[in-house]
Amino acid sequence: MNEEKAIVLIGPPGSGKTSAGRLAAARLGWSFADTDILIEQRSGMSVAQIFSELGEKHFRQLETDLLVELCDQPPTHAILATGGGIVVSPGNFALLARIGRPIALMATPETLAARLSCDQSRPLLADAESSEALVAKLVKLMSARKEAYECASFCINTTDLTTEEVVDTILATRSCPI
Ligand code: S3P
Repeated sequence: MNEEKAIVLIGPPGSGKTSAGRLAAARLGWSFADTDILIEQRSGMSVAQIFSELGEKHFRQLETDLLVELCDQPPTHAILATGGGIVVSPGNFALLARIGRPIALMATPETLAARLSCDQSRPLLADAESSEALVAKLVKLMSARKEAYECASFCINTTDLTTEEVVDTILATRSCPI
């Protein structure tokens, strides 16, 4: 059987990397991993705890360390979802591209804000006191990361798509040459 390179999902919080990644992996019979979950399992702390007790810089180092490790033995037949800010550390995109085929999931800031409105688990967004403030934070965060997200081989706008449709689109990219 051909060893097929992993698919790596990048994109802002709320773009559906974890839910679409899990479903895509289930449909393909592939394994699924998520960098935030791997970091939480290894450190025994939640992402929010790592941010508040050790700082964002420490969290970013844990992300890079994990990617370096995954590069040593890149997984095949796997989907890797990543934390939205993994692309901010210089060099991480190159590591992600060695691990698999990066696909960016995007959505409008309003859509992301609506999906995240009841979720307090993201430290960089948790202090937004209104939906307008959350949209404003997402606009800022996305414009700072735009260029990095756009380095992905494919970019899927998930704004008007169901998770099933996002997965269909992810799977369709498998037949496209990069
Ligand atoms: C972050 C996104 C989060 C998580 C951490 C930082 C970010 O992951 O890694 O809270 O900087 O955008 P999700 O994209 O899965 O929310």
